Amino acid sequence: MNNFETRLAACLDELKWLYSELYGETPCFEQLIGRIRQFAASRKPALTALDRAREADPEWYRRSDMLGMMMYTEQFADSLAGIEKRLPYLKELNVRYLHLMPLLKMPKKENDGGYAVSDFRQVDERIGTIDELSHLADVCREQKMSICLDFIVNHTSDEHEWAVRAKKGEKEYQDRYMCYDTREIPDEYEKTVPQVFPNTAPGNFIFCGEMGKYVLSTFNPYQWDMNYKNPVVFNEMACNMLYLANVGIEIFRIDAVPYIWKELGTSCRNLPQVHTIMRMLRIIAKAVCPAVVFKGEVVMAPHEVAPYFGPVDKPECDILYNVTTMVCVWNSLATRDVTLLKWQMDAMDALPPEFTFVNYVRCHDDIGWGLEESAVQYLGSDPLEHKKFLYHFYIGDYPGSFARGELYNYDPVSQDARSCGTCASLCGIEKALDECDPGALGLAVSRHLMIHAYIASLSGIPVIYSGDELAQLNDNRYTDDPVKAVDSRFIHRGKLDWARAEKRLDRETVPGLVFQALQKLIRLRAENPVFNAGARERTLDSGDKAVLAFRREGGGQTLTAVYNFSEFPKHVQPVQGGRCRDLLTGRDYADGAFEIGAYQALWLLKA
Ligand code: GLC
Repeated sequence: MNNFETRLAACLDELKWLYSELYGETPCFEQLIGRIRQFAASRKPALTALDRAREADPEWYRRSDMLGMMMYTEQFADSLAGIEKRLPYLKELNVRYLHLMPLLKMPKKENDGGYAVSDFRQVDERIGTIDELSHLADVCREQKMSICLDFIVNHTSDEHEWAVRAKKGEKEYQDRYMCYDTREIPDEYEKTVPQVFPNTAPGNFIFCGEMGKYVLSTFNPYQWDMNYKNPVVFNEMACNMLYLANVGIEIFRIDAVPYIWKELGTSCRNLPQVHTIMRMLRIIAKAVCPAVVFKGEVVMAPHEVAPYFGPVDKPECDILYNVTTMVCVWNSLATRDVTLLKWQMDAMDALPPEFTFVNYVRCHDDIGWGLEESAVQYLGSDPLEHKKFLYHFYIGDYPGSFARGELYNYDPVSQDARSCGTCASLCGIEKALDECDPGALGLAVSRHLMIHAYIASLSGIPVIYSGDELAQLNDNRYTDDPVKAVDSRFIHRGKLDWARAEKRLDRETVPGLVFQALQKLIRLRAENPVFNAGARERTLDSGDKAVLAFRREGGGQTLTAVYNFSEFPKHVQPVQGGRCRDLLTGRDYADGAFEIGAYQALWLLKA
């Protein structure tokens, strides 16, 4: 038996069991297996070699030299060909996985930044071709860089062939979505299903005049939810994933995972069947293309995220976003209080060490203020009032705020809102520059660097949002484009400013200072095995609520990381457990209490 058949045989029973749990006895299962076999047979030698290498080294993405960068192809380098030319720039930062945001065929105008896919097997013509994507993946692989692509599993665009045929009245294609003749069932759903974009896209259904039916569109009106109760949908999407894996995609960012199964009378989030589907996709991927890993986008309440790893012996996602830690970082900067962040770290440290998280401070989306409400209450704040404080703070509308951001999806009924802006603008760099305030600028740059040092010291994979390595500011030009103007997330989706990038060698400039500091963090992280995922980690009591301290032990090293989330120098009680050297400054620290500067980060390696 070849490798694929051996792998398939080991999981076929489980796959069949799960499939029949959702779909009963159906010929669709055998059809799926037949198609999987074809994808396995057509996987090219370079990729099967990678499969073998990764099967022998399953920790490949958990080592301290792993670093991700996420970007929109067209904003970074116009096209896929442009990315290839810019690879040397990414090498300067030692980027090992490159997350290219949606680039598959999408509607020309409204497309939710590409999250509305019109064809899962074609690259959007403005960005390149599928052959160019395959070529780029080959070039990157030779340079030990993996390409990560979004796999948008919940919906298609309303220009996808299925939607087009559904509109023309073909029942077979209408059955791939959730279409209703009257408002009766949609109204029932609306009673229990929350809204994702209450302001920019209210309601969960649209009326499609052409078809004369109501269609479920949880996100935007042109993003139609697929009907996973139909096994054909599952089969087609599994095959689309394998197709892209054979093009050379090594990491799939599975978009909006919790939403894919719907049941009347529920919130249509996190239903058990979602886990069945994720487990089946995972089994299929590991049989055909074991080099591939899944990164799940689960932006949910803290306790709802970890279940998407699945049980250790029946895993679903390999990697998940550490969304709550990201939110706690911004909360700590606004409050100058790390209590919630420390509790979040304690919760993370209690999870099995096999779990891998992506750690990040910014991405292409808004910051949703999803803090654990009971914890906020425990600290004496009302959760809604605290949320209001945060979103006001990050639009600069609060005394002492340093931030320049935008509101996102303010809901006048619930008073919920989220925040947008680039890391640099939210950290105060934009305001300090506008006000020509060198003192404030110094603090803002330190803030930006301190939170990057923090994410670089956590277990998992640090991911930088393209532009943040140069402290790029908000780009307000999106308001000139009527399609984008309604969506303030575009404020932090500007084009990479290559003139700014030219300054990266000059430490007298903000981009130069930030770029070189990040380079150093990345290098130090890669050189020290204490940063490997799986090292033991525990928080410490620094004696000051603005100072976060924690210890990592692994790879024969002991490191105490300390971060001051305030603009005041602080006195820290002895946490380092002996003589240390700060990897960041090279300074020696004796055992005992010590001072930490405003927004300073310390990586204290035990001597
Ligand atoms: C994910 C994306 C977001 C998009 C949504 C709908 O949450 O990150 O940008 O709007 O999915 O596809």
